[in-house]
Amino acid sequence: MALRFTLFSRAVSTSVSNMNSIKHVTIIGGGLMGSGIAQVAAQSGQNVTLVDVNDDVLRNSKNGIEKSLQRIAKKLYKDKELEAKKFITDAVSRVSTSTKIKDAVKSTDLVVEAIVEKMEAKHKLFSDIDSVAPESTIFASNTSSLSVTEISSVTKRKDRFVGLHFFNPVPVMKLLEVIRTVDTSDDTYNKAMEWGKSVGKVPITCKDTPGFVVNRLLVPLLCEAVRMMERGDASARDIDTAMKLGAGYPMGPIELADFVGHDTTLSIVEGWHKKFPSNPLFEPLKSMQELVKQGKLGAKTGEGYYKYNK
Ligand code: CAA
Ligand code: NAD
Repeated sequence: MALRFTLFSRAVSTSVSNMNSIKHVTIIGGGLMGSGIAQVAAQSGQNVTLVDVNDDVLRNSKNGIEKSLQRIAKKLYKDKELEAKKFITDAVSRVSTSTKIKDAVKSTDLVVEAIVEKMEAKHKLFSDIDSVAPESTIFASNTSSLSVTEISSVTKRKDRFVGLHFFNPVPVMKLLEVIRTVDTSDDTYNKAMEWGKSVGKVPITCKDTPGFVVNRLLVPLLCEAVRMMERGDASARDIDTAMKLGAGYPMGPIELADFVGHDTTLSIVEGWHKKFPSNPLFEPLKSMQELVKQGKLGAKTGEGYYKYNK
């Protein structure tokens, strides 16, 4: 009994000493993922600055955040209309927006980058902000597939750099992959895990390997489904129905590829193909390349393999 009590007290004090110390977060990239990450942080009581190069994107992001909060409030507060309204207005008021990237990182505890899946763009961004952000600020990338070590290489804070990989739609998907590079310090890793919990996610630890855990398994599956459709083995609808009804997936793989965005998926596959040219699972997809050329990026642009009401 005494031993159990000691272990219990130690567990409590550990969790208290590890409590989230991050109070202000700057999210860079206000698209699908950035707006979701901003939302979950604001919902959890943190102040957020959401940054994008484009003012229209920021306006759309704020609208999207409000709509998503309404869906959540409906479930959380059912008939308590006033409490639901307060939950929404409080969370929305914690999100400020900006197009001035350097100003937005001058006083912040954590920067989470969610811009395009291109190494050059991420390098430019992190080298621009490294000399402006406070020394104690932790940098994180939400990259789906790029090496976090390589992204961090342009900064002087490799020990304060992690991957924080969220899943789409961020307000719904519970998982957070925390990617620890060989340079990430214990303190940064612990803070990243605690922050993940503080925004309501279940964090897991991953090494800096291509696709970490989920995408290394999921992206080849999506690509195999598209290849099956390209060969004419089955229609997109039938492939999706098969995986929903035969494997219990919430969405079929072609539908999911549309949901993720073909610009993102193609960047992932082309990047891996360059690194591992002999792996047939990473062979770029002709129909996807064609969709991207035509700007049909999936659900976010209203058309991909399927058509959507925007
Ligand atoms: N904000 C708030 N709530 C939302 C929401 C949002 N954006 N989207 C859905 N919801 C809620 C709904 O309110 C609903 O809640 P209740 O069931 O409690 O009423 C619930 O989620 C289900 O939503 P819907 O009924 O509208 O639709 P659905 O049942 O088809 O679920 C889905 C939608 C959650 C997206 C589901 O289809 C799903 O889980 N799909 C798979 C998503 C997935 O695999 N994501 C990972 C992609 S890979 C990735 O992200 C990594 C990468 O790097 C590419
Ligand atoms: P998106 O195209 O919806 O959004 C990207 C946003 O970044 C755009 O609004 C763009 O204007 C902005 N941007 C581009 N360059 C910028 C810069 N230099 N500074 C500030 N803003 C800039 O893309 P997304 O789907 O949100 O993906 C963002 C990142 O998250 C990518 O690295 C992607 O691989 C990763 N990711 C995507 C998903 C997904 O399902 N789509 C899931 C997990 C991770």
